[in-house]
Amino acid sequence: MAPLTRSRAHADGTPSDLAVRYYAQRAAAGLIISEATAVSAGANGAYVNTPGIHTDGHQAKWAQIAEAVHAEGGSMFVQLWHVGRMGHPDISGTETVAPSAIAANMSAHTPSGKKPLPVPRALRTDELPAIVDQFRAAARRAVDAGMDGVEIHGANGYLLHEFQSDVVNQRTDAYGGSSENRARLTAEIVEAVADEIGAGRVGLRISPGGTAADMRENDVVGVYQALLDRIAPLGIAYLHVLIDPTAETFGAIRAIWSGTFVLNTGREIDTDFCQLESFAEWGAISAAAVGRPFLANPDLIDRLIVGAELNEPDVATFYTPGPVGYVDYPTLAEVEESRSA
Ligand SMILES: Cc1cc2nc3c(=O)[nH]c(=O)nc-3n(C[C@H](O)[C@H](O)[C@H](O)COP(=O)(O)O)c2cc1C
Repeated sequence: MAPLTRSRAHADGTPSDLAVRYYAQRAAAGLIISEATAVSAGANGAYVNTPGIHTDGHQAKWAQIAEAVHAEGGSMFVQLWHVGRMGHPDISGTETVAPSAIAANMSAHTPSGKKPLPVPRALRTDELPAIVDQFRAAARRAVDAGMDGVEIHGANGYLLHEFQSDVVNQRTDAYGGSSENRARLTAEIVEAVADEIGAGRVGLRISPGGTAADMRENDVVGVYQALLDRIAPLGIAYLHVLIDPTAETFGAIRAIWSGTFVLNTGREIDTDFCQLESFAEWGAISAAAVGRPFLANPDLIDRLIVGAELNEPDVATFYTPGPVGYVDYPTLAEVEESRSA
């Protein structure tokens, strides 16, 4: 199950009781990757009511989620997130920071309405080790909470993706300029987290060439080659790539990575389960990550096995508070029960 922000956490970043039910309902996924979860207060702020994993209270609730998913026979990784220039101070309560002072040409849905994203403050070089440490500490909390591992969020225009970009990252220090330099922060985080919890518990999500969040990259393959070459010796659990598999970049990125390769075909494309099955059979991918179909079908796997019709996801309730569109999608058995009633 691909990571899906659902904006149902409490204002202080503690996941809600509903989240325990939501994830337990989807335990048959094999591996659930949680919604993006902030590694510090300053790492949050792209959406309201998104969770964190940097206080004892957060950790205690994630522990309940881990227990509930394990009780249903599932496994779960927490996706670790720093929003970078996608944060709004009205949501995070802190200033917005990024590799360089270049704003995303986008708005945030703040508690007092839609507002343009501010020009971020460029992080100083001496602030970067603390960000690496936040990921390390959050990973430690995830594992101490009983989670099976963590996925580092390097995709979709958030902080780590911003560092990778030759457009958004205009730095002149060791974290900007060459491909190796732009890949450095993500690589250091993956290394630190692998050192903390073991490489076998670490995944990395990337979206090479992705244009979500006003992102631009010119030299896509070069910068990901630098990143993947550097982290390859660690032997992490998997690389999770959000990419259109018909794009030229797919073949190039696939060729670079010899480890476990998880594909998600991205938001612009409707999931084609036959295509994913063929890719898996050919060995082009090790696994597929599926988002919206899982959001709308807690029993997705059972439905796919019997070729049953799928519930359609309701876009209007993706990010709204409460149980509707969150824990009330019916299973196939429930649909059949209500039909025969
Ligand atoms: C409601 C919603 C929330 C999302 N939240 C996240 C997130 O927290 N982290 C992330 O990496 N991707 C996130 N994504 C992207 C999904 O993981 C996935 O890449 C995308 O939905 C395309 O896959 P799908 O067609 O299987 O849904 C989100 C997408 C949706 C629709």
